Amino acid sequence: MFCIAIDGPAGAGKSSVAKAAAEKLHFLYVDTGAIYRTIALYLLEKGIDPHDPQAAEAALPGIEVSLSHTEEGQRMFLNGEDVTARIRTEAVSMATSAAAAIPAVRAHLLGIQRGLAEKNNVLMDGRDIGTVVLPNAQLKVFLTASPEERARRRAAQLEQAGERADYEEILKEIKARDHQDSTRDIAPLKPAPDAVLLDTSGLSFTESVEALVGLARGRMASHE
Ligand code: DC
Repeated sequence: MFCIAIDGPAGAGKSSVAKAAAEKLHFLYVDTGAIYRTIALYLLEKGIDPHDPQAAEAALPGIEVSLSHTEEGQRMFLNGEDVTARIRTEAVSMATSAAAAIPAVRAHLLGIQRGLAEKNNVLMDGRDIGTVVLPNAQLKVFLTASPEERARRRAAQLEQAGERADYEEILKEIKARDHQDSTRDIAPLKPAPDAVLLDTSGLSFTESVEALVGLARGRMASHE
């Protein structure tokens, strides 16, 4: 199997670029953030504090997470129930960030992620795919954009949605989150030593997808 690991911070356009590139390459796109979100949803619904490592670990045997890949994309199931839409709320995002810092949660999800890569050519998107989940991936890409560019994109998104957007405030939040994600003890966000850095700051969406597809095709040709 050919595995492509895509890591990088939130807000760099990683998911949409990775998903489009996977389609062009006919690879299975795996959004690992959604798997973490599903665990966090369970904790929230059961009233379990996602900051409490013992409580979260004790809950894990009761959680069965599965995925299916359809025409419309990846769907997430929690104990058999489709929760694809419900994992996208702000409350779930906050809880996920906490739950993802718990070692037992990360260990629980490792098997699911590795299992997918054993059976499919995958393009797997996350934070620690090249460093922890698929250290032998044939291609590792660290996809990022400058904090200023990510703040500009986020502000434009909010304005388009008719919401108030304070660029300076957004930029401050992005820098704080980058610091938190890259300094946490477990699976900190950092490029694998053998990752290719893809900075999309000056690139359009289409150019970013083309750059990623180009990297993948180049690496696949050299593995044939
Ligand atoms: O990519 P996302 O926003 O859906 O990720 C949700 C949260 O899960 C985010 O706080 C980072 C975390 N995450 C992680 O720690 N490791 C991954 N492989 C994927 C996501």
